[in-house]
Amino acid sequence: MFKKSHLITAHKDHNRAVPKLGLVPTMGALHNGHKSLIESSIKNNDVTVVSIFVNPTQFSPTEDLAKYPRTLEKDIELCTSLGVDIVFAPDAKEMYSSNDEVTLNPPKSMGYILEGYYRPTHFAGVLQIVLKLFNLMLSSCYHSSQTDAYSIRAYFGKKDAQQLLIVQKMVHDLYLPIEVIAMPIVRDTDSLALSSRNVYLTPTQRQQALALPRAILRIEHLIVQENIRDIETLKAEANSILQGLQIDYMDFYTHNLTLAKEYGTREARKCIFLVAITIDKIRLLDNLWIE
Ligand code: PAF
Repeated sequence: MFKKSHLITAHKDHNRAVPKLGLVPTMGALHNGHKSLIESSIKNNDVTVVSIFVNPTQFSPTEDLAKYPRTLEKDIELCTSLGVDIVFAPDAKEMYSSNDEVTLNPPKSMGYILEGYYRPTHFAGVLQIVLKLFNLMLSSCYHSSQTDAYSIRAYFGKKDAQQLLIVQKMVHDLYLPIEVIAMPIVRDTDSLALSSRNVYLTPTQRQQALALPRAILRIEHLIVQENIRDIETLKAEANSILQGLQIDYMDFYTHNLTLAKEYGTREARKCIFLVAITIDKIRLLDNLWIE
């Protein structure tokens, strides 16, 4: 019987080191979270490409596409200072030939809950642009190399956990020859998880938002230091820290995005604690990956 793995081994020359290309897909407004992805890519690959593209298809008509922060010159300066090989910053016309293209949908079970419940078209837009970026990297590597294809790694932050899991699922389901690297959340000095959207917060809103990392770090402490893993106890604790804030969701999920407790467990193990709150229309996400 012919198996998928035969395709791969048939082309492998075991004596030659395959050059490695790292792709860091971003929407710009680069911060230290992006910096950590870029640094990891530079350290572990021969060539690093950073894409900067505010992708219109992942925004709904009511969302902040027009006012999304754009700091291209500063971003390019940062990339240059870090030693990025290529900054790919296309405009919308280069990435989309029309508004009636072939589209991709995320899995029903993963794409329309949590963020997907509040932003039902979001993950289709993310998958479409990420697949385009992957294919551009694959095809340009193929054309530029006389000898061998590059092996491609793509770097995503764990902060956008649902995005990361859905991209991993796309790579798996569509047999994409891409290794997805999941990178840890980077926090600001006040512990708020870094996000380009944090610039929308006023100082007062930022103070309110700090309840979010407080809840996450408290849950981490209870699990790691006190070995308390009962889901209801942990949720009650987070709830009391987030009291008074608009909680959009807060629960423990498996890596397939099934509710951990529906999966038949009362204990938080090998799962992700996902939380989102809204402060004056600004949505903030945070999470904890639990072993
Ligand atoms: O996480 C982001 O910045 C975006 O969703 C991504 C992956 C660059 C796709 O536009």
